[in-house]
Amino acid sequence: MSAMTGTAAPVLEARGVSVHFGGIKALQGVDVAVAPGAITGLVGPNGAGKTTLFGVLSGLLRPTAGTVRLKDHDVTTASAQTRARKGLARTFQQPELFLGLTVREHLTLAYRSTHHRSRLWTDAFTAGGLRRPDTDETARVDFLLDVLFLGGVADQPVGSLPLGTSRLVEVGRALATSPAALLLDEPLAGLDSYEVDKLAAALRRAVAEEGTGMLLVEHDVSMVLSVCRRIYVLDFGVLLAEGTPQQIRDDPKVRVAYLGDEVIAEEKS
Ligand SMILES: Nc1ncnc2c1ncn2[C@@H]1O[C@H](COP(=O)(O)OP(=O)(O)OP(=O)(O)O)[C@@H](O)[C@H]1O
Ligand SMILES: [Mg+2]
Repeated sequence: MSAMTGTAAPVLEARGVSVHFGGIKALQGVDVAVAPGAITGLVGPNGAGKTTLFGVLSGLLRPTAGTVRLKDHDVTTASAQTRARKGLARTFQQPELFLGLTVREHLTLAYRSTHHRSRLWTDAFTAGGLRRPDTDETARVDFLLDVLFLGGVADQPVGSLPLGTSRLVEVGRALATSPAALLLDEPLAGLDSYEVDKLAAALRRAVAEEGTGMLLVEHDVSMVLSVCRRIYVLDFGVLLAEGTPQQIRDDPKVRVAYLGDEVIAEEKS
């Protein structure tokens, strides 16, 4: 896959999605499209519906109305596992890693989970470590280690790594399966500014190199403005705005509803 232009067909799309929890309209007729080879942002104040939309896209939540498309498939009623097999990956807010395994071992296992499914669990739990990697595996894992700035810690156990580096491992694990689309649930939560910059740079490199379409659900608005090609702003379950970072910065509705001080602070800096 190669990096594509903004006009390429979306890899993941929500069309007219509504979710009602009893009387609460968490989402109403929301349209979101995730382009390949770019990072798309989803922001909004507390209770706007971000986590609900994430659930609908990933397959944890069935919408009351509307459809979800993954590449050429209508996956509205497909399980999370089926979506994963068709090319949808996600990361978790708390990285779920095996603390004793090294960074390289995590990426190798993730790669094997799609390429040699049956060997995964024997590999993971055989005393004496993993089966020796083959050439394709080694090339793929080395490539991802390089893209994500993980080369220097490849042979360290993940239990010894700071949170920002663990997030990179989590992203690497998701990318090892070569997904068409990757959903990231607040990947910046808890990171310091150095780690935020590094993760942002790694994500940019990853989408450019891999052609993956990423959707970033995030509270850190300034980072979203700096890293995303297109941004969707949710407010009270409806799309308040969508557009380029510049259009979002300039949108008076967005300023009033949500961004206000943060955007102005960023423009001054
Ligand atoms: N399982 C549920 N049952 C009932 N109401 C829910 C449920 N999940 C979410 N809601 C409601 O739906 C609305 C959207 O919530 P959601 O968690 O999607 O917002 P959010 O944008 O992720 O907010 P935050 O920034 O606080 O994480 C809120 O009013 C919330 O209270
Ligand atoms: Mg949420």
